[in-house]
Amino acid sequence: MQTAERLAKIPPYLFMELRKKINKAKADGVDVISLAIGDPIEATPDSIIDELCATARNPLNHRYPTDEEKGMLLYRQEIAKWYQTRYGVSLNPENEILGLIGSKEGCHHFVLARVNQGDTVLMTDPGYPAYRSSILLGGGEPYNVPILPQNNYLPVLEDIPTDIVKKATAMFLNYPNNPTGACATLEFLDKLVAFARESDIAICYDNPYSEILFQGQPRISFLMAQGAKDVGIELNSLSKPFNMCGWRIGIACGNPDVIAAISKVKENTDSGVFNPIQYAGIQALRNEAPFGEKMLAIYGQRRELVLKTLKKIGIDFNPPRGTFYLWVPVPQGMTSLEFTNRLFDKTAVVVASGTAYGKYGEGFVRISLTVPDDRLAEAMARIEKEFKQ
Ligand SMILES: Cc1ncc(COP(=O)(O)O)c(C=O)c1O
Repeated sequence: MQTAERLAKIPPYLFMELRKKINKAKADGVDVISLAIGDPIEATPDSIIDELCATARNPLNHRYPTDEEKGMLLYRQEIAKWYQTRYGVSLNPENEILGLIGSKEGCHHFVLARVNQGDTVLMTDPGYPAYRSSILLGGGEPYNVPILPQNNYLPVLEDIPTDIVKKATAMFLNYPNNPTGACATLEFLDKLVAFARESDIAICYDNPYSEILFQGQPRISFLMAQGAKDVGIELNSLSKPFNMCGWRIGIACGNPDVIAAISKVKENTDSGVFNPIQYAGIQALRNEAPFGEKMLAIYGQRRELVLKTLKKIGIDFNPPRGTFYLWVPVPQGMTSLEFTNRLFDKTAVVVASGTAYGKYGEGFVRISLTVPDDRLAEAMARIEKEFKQ
């Protein structure tokens, strides 16, 4: 049967392709270690699971979620407290916060809520691949704004061609950045707000790594910038700070008009998040900050191990301080794909080629630290052996 033409525009999802490759090698008996995917391996904290189990026993929670597409008021109030405590940002739970089925859902529904057919939507290159798919599925035209090491992986807004800026109605950004690990500064966020205001571009600031920071890097929300709520929203997620990727629970907050518009889209597409998952989310936000600290210490050690190994094989660089990824320059004379393939063929270690995130990802690979310590140690031993000769 013929399927919709819009799907033909969507490039194959990176991780689906990788998964196929990994599964095939595993079926052939190869001991594959994947450092490609950012999905924490350690369990969600017990208190969160207990809250889910307890609330799932209440038949009232088996009905459509309370407050449906907006998310429970209690959940939204907890988000408001979390934003106040962690970022010093004040939010009105009534009209400035929305519960999401993960921030990926928010990316997609943001486009449906803001972008008209044929509108240009800015996104960074390299960038999280789901932005392109969301833009295309929503009828927009993606435009890649390069983010380069010499600019600390921040876009140079004044370099975006004027005709593109005129046509653009929205922009996706994400700092701490997947894939590069770069962090934004408040100074940059001020410039971003001014740019968005002048050009009437709605910002979708995707911030699921807001808590994954190293070496004293300060926590930053887009909404800390003065006037940010006038020009856009922030997406956040419980996936990464509380090891809840599979639970599908996230946050949209900021501009009330955009929040209401996304809410309208959700009202007509899904009925929100299962109440017990929202109760579990409340438990996470209210009580599990120490778990986040524990995970940061674990990622910090893994980061050191990878950096030490890379140094031994001649890859010495100063990594940005955000996310649980390392954006690693490939050895001189190799492309990203050549390095990725050599790693896979010779060591059975899978990393993500930088080019999977856009053409400006050439020259890099992304290594994820969400693997068990012993597997990471084994991967590093194999890499050291292969590349040290
Ligand atoms: C930049 C970025 N945005 C959004 C997501 C999706 O997060 P969620 O699990 O909340 O949908 C990811 C997941 O890897 C991501 O890297």
